[in-house]
Amino acid sequence: MVTVDPRTPDRASLERAGAVIRRGGLVAFPTETVYGLGANALDPAAIARIFAAKGRPANDPVIVHVDRPAQVWQVARHVSPLAARLIARFWPGPLTLVLPRAATVPSAVSAGLPTVAVRMPAHPVALGLIAAAGRPVAAPSANRFSRPSATTAAHVIADLDGAVDLILDAGPAPIGLESTILDLSGDGPPVLLRPGGLPLDDLIAVAGPIVTRPSPPGTDEQPQVAPGLMTKHYAPRAEMLVIVGERVRARARLRAEIAGRCAAGQGVGVLLVDEDADLLANLPVQVARLGSETRLAEIGERLFSALRDLDTAGVDVIAARDIGAAGLGLAIRDRLVRAAAGRVIDIDNDPTST
Ligand code: TXA
Ligand code: MG
Repeated sequence: MVTVDPRTPDRASLERAGAVIRRGGLVAFPTETVYGLGANALDPAAIARIFAAKGRPANDPVIVHVDRPAQVWQVARHVSPLAARLIARFWPGPLTLVLPRAATVPSAVSAGLPTVAVRMPAHPVALGLIAAAGRPVAAPSANRFSRPSATTAAHVIADLDGAVDLILDAGPAPIGLESTILDLSGDGPPVLLRPGGLPLDDLIAVAGPIVTRPSPPGTDEQPQVAPGLMTKHYAPRAEMLVIVGERVRARARLRAEIAGRCAAGQGVGVLLVDEDADLLANLPVQVARLGSETRLAEIGERLFSALRDLDTAGVDVIAARDIGAAGLGLAIRDRLVRAAAGRVIDIDNDPTST
């Protein structure tokens, strides 16, 4: 592991990491969203090593990272006027665009799809690494398959120690949620494949109408067109319980569920917003604090770490309350629901709740 400054990483460390990429190795590196597990995007053998290290199925495509907007032409066959507008407005930043794939990009990067997912990260270490490598860097999140994404170098070590040639440690990833993925490869309007660090409203302001699908069906045989199509993703080891719905009743239900689980002798962990602290009086629970529900950026930044902390504490069940879909809330909700593998208590649509 090499420690680097997040704002002004030293040249020598970046050169060393770039050399690892050039010779076909794997480098874990920070981005503004989460840590990535990087390899030369143009080298099929290096791509194969990513999949092996993560234990990731070959039908789950990875994102290609570039260090300047013009580099998109090395990986995409066509860049539409809309894509160019979004790039000009949001790169570098947490926006991944799915575009027609150029022949130079091995099809394994995209799990055989005719498209490629590409983004320019807003992190000096990521940009410096790509520049030092001198080529686009393919990178999924640097966690083992189906574990919460890594937002610190310690998470990378916990999941991938021994499978990575070099880890660049620049402290916690500032956003903590993966990029927003927008599919521009079709003939119709853009399709949101994954809500993420760039809020949907910001995108709509530039792109106009965007097609969103709640949870598209996926199968293990077909290439995944968005993460988490396999129901279980971002999964903690503990059972996950997510309460969705009107705030007052959701709070009451959260308290009741936690109390019930405690009474049944289960070890209960809570992903806690400050506003719910009053609900836990006299309950023997483990708490991971997310901060105030009025500060979504802070909740996003802490979410995956909090999930891992509660897992490490060895609880049987992790409870959380949904905090709405505004702004980053949509991405936070998405990660909670996926972590729960669909086991969500929707009190607005549950006849048994009062
Ligand atoms: O913020 C991020 O996006 C982080 C950092 C490291 O950049 N990366 C990340 O990668 O979250 P990953 O592999 O965990 O998730 C990328 C997802 C894949 O699960 C896949 O579903 C989707 O992007 N994807 C990749 N290529 C695609 C393509 N050609 N078409 C549709 N979806 C694609
Ligand atoms: Mg991932």
